[in-house]
Amino acid sequence: MPTDTIAINNVVALGRDGEIAIVTIDSPPVNALSADVRDGLAGAFAAIGSNAGVKAVVLVCAGRTFIAGADISEFGKAPRGASLHAVMDNMEGGRVPVVAAIHGTALGGGLEVALTCHYRVSDAKAKFGLPEVKLGLLPGAGGTQRLPRIVGAKKALEMVTSGAQMGAKDALASGLVDAIVDGDLTAGAVAFARQVVAEGRPLKRVRDDNSRLGGDAASLAPVFAAFRAANARAFKGFDAPEANIKCIEAAVALPFEDGMKVERAEFIKLMGGLQSTAQRHVFFAERQAAKIDGLDPKAELLPVKSVGIIGAGTMGGGIAMNFLSVGIPVTIVETKQDALDRGVATIRRNYENSAKKGRFSMEEVEARMARLTPTLALEDLGQADLIIEAVFENMDIKKQIFGRLDTIAKPGAILASNTSYLNVDEIAASTSRPESVVGMHFFSPANVMRLLEVVRGAKTAPNVLATAMATGKAIGKIGVVSGVCHGFIGNRMLGARQEQANKLILEGARPADVDRVLTEFGFPMGPFQMADLAGLDIGWSADTSKGVTVRDRLCEAGLRGQKNSHGFYDYDEARNRTPSPVAEKIILDYAAEKGINRREIDDAEILERCLYPMVNEGAKILAEGMAQRASDIDIVWINGYGWPVYRGGPMFWAEHDAGRARIAASLERMGMAVSPKLVEGW
Ligand code: 3HC
Repeated sequence: MPTDTIAINNVVALGRDGEIAIVTIDSPPVNALSADVRDGLAGAFAAIGSNAGVKAVVLVCAGRTFIAGADISEFGKAPRGASLHAVMDNMEGGRVPVVAAIHGTALGGGLEVALTCHYRVSDAKAKFGLPEVKLGLLPGAGGTQRLPRIVGAKKALEMVTSGAQMGAKDALASGLVDAIVDGDLTAGAVAFARQVVAEGRPLKRVRDDNSRLGGDAASLAPVFAAFRAANARAFKGFDAPEANIKCIEAAVALPFEDGMKVERAEFIKLMGGLQSTAQRHVFFAERQAAKIDGLDPKAELLPVKSVGIIGAGTMGGGIAMNFLSVGIPVTIVETKQDALDRGVATIRRNYENSAKKGRFSMEEVEARMARLTPTLALEDLGQADLIIEAVFENMDIKKQIFGRLDTIAKPGAILASNTSYLNVDEIAASTSRPESVVGMHFFSPANVMRLLEVVRGAKTAPNVLATAMATGKAIGKIGVVSGVCHGFIGNRMLGARQEQANKLILEGARPADVDRVLTEFGFPMGPFQMADLAGLDIGWSADTSKGVTVRDRLCEAGLRGQKNSHGFYDYDEARNRTPSPVAEKIILDYAAEKGINRREIDDAEILERCLYPMVNEGAKILAEGMAQRASDIDIVWINGYGWPVYRGGPMFWAEHDAGRARIAASLERMGMAVSPKLVEGW
């Protein structure tokens, strides 16, 4: 047991267990390497250096995790406190062995600190990773030079460019940790340190050992080339992955100190760039989105132990999978047996495909399917804690369903609608318990997409709202609260973009130009590719079609999008697309009929007309209080609509890149009403 523990400062303590010194960091929530932590470590190791009685050191963290990295909130601010590099040099170059004792997650700077320790032990659940790339950065404290010296250049490449974590078992196998401790971690680490001392084991410095890099610059050149080629698509648009790769190359090609210089230079470049600022914004925005203004964070949540889903189509099935996958039983309701069977079969097929890819076992598929109860009787939802309606977008039908649910659902059950546009208050009014009604708008495919818009009705009870958000988190979604307005946050802004895209193709741009400009900006696909993918005939019917829109006419001509290989594009068997001459003629004829003078439209105009009105709509959404904060809008667009994360979301982009004043001036030139919020800022 440690004795004579002294506080070095408010977050670092130094204790002793005989000849072993124990340095404990206790800086909630995640022991990030703030100035205080760095100062504390500097103080602790200075004290250890001058104490001849200390034969080894254990570095351990209190609370839920080992150091989770540098303190991101300090980035971009004036430096203060001890330098992390100096602290690490001091630990690594000291006269006694230092053993890192790791639990929770050793991430980023946390893993880098551990890599400067001479030995590392962990508990069996610990995880290790260098996730800086997700913040548009690279490990800037020697991680790119030390990690490949343990796990090899190839594995290190994968880890630094993906930010993926390694479990304790793999860490042990690869030499990232020297032992896994059962029972009390500190006690186990002290015992390990004592053994190191007793056996006179050397001060292992990762930096000095090149034997595990896996080759030299020449022999590994094809590995780097293949890695770049295989990931070109995934890394497109991002600066950080290539910078990370360069650093691993430097680790292989150069002596340690020279490699460190490359790492430093690349790190500084990334840190000063807009991409990292954007990605750090997204990190905090994601966590901020979970906070509901005016709601007690300790508000008592309702239990969600069973779920009812109405509709076994694409949406209903996808939504069901989220719950089945985390162990929550689902009763799924359809009106016809064949539709029910089809829905259940699709769920099974999706799970089986995942199992075939090795994501989980066939037993797991069966376990998940066993939690699913298909039925044709709405009455079977009487005991469900949460009921999610996922039928097609028709207010009358939704009202009818909610009216019936009112008589079926148990008191206190949450009644949610997956509507993507409709008025949740109107739906709620068809029940006698509007306080239990909330919107839960999932995005397709609902088992994959992370965004969940949680729509707060005028009468939604605070604990119903809080439970909907918490339930989203429990199934791995990022919840964002939206007010009731047509299309909520995401689709309302999408509407503003689509309106311009539709006009642009009549005025002279081609659909493929609009799509190209937006994909070059960083979207995975443009509006017309998206329309083809979704199906041009969504909401269209041959019986009622009046041929008043381009889309009506495309459908009337038999163009339905990817599903029949003809839409704005023609698709071959491998889904390669070429612009459709039929669609082009329909667009030209339509423009002529409307008397529109077609002209050359350049890329800059396309971009401005698609994105600026969206930002303007975002500003209106904020002004109306439909979104709690601008960063919530960014989270919606990044997670639901493929806005490139390195551009931080539309509101961040407007503020830091395009410029609000420029957007406002351009909108005025377009003759659009500028939201005062866009001018005054958020
Ligand atoms: N710096 C500052 N704050 C951090 C932080 C960090 N590195 N990591 C987490 N936090 C904050 C969060 O913002 C959140 O604050 P809030 O409660 O006020 O919203 C709080 O800690 C808890 O975080 P989570 O909600 O994310 O908690 P979880 O338990 O879900 O996850 C975690 C914990 C896995 C550690 C996760 O927070 C995480 O992934 N953190 C980031 C890790 C990371 O990116 N590290 C690298 C940093 S860059 C770096 O190290 C550079 C170096 O190479 C020089």
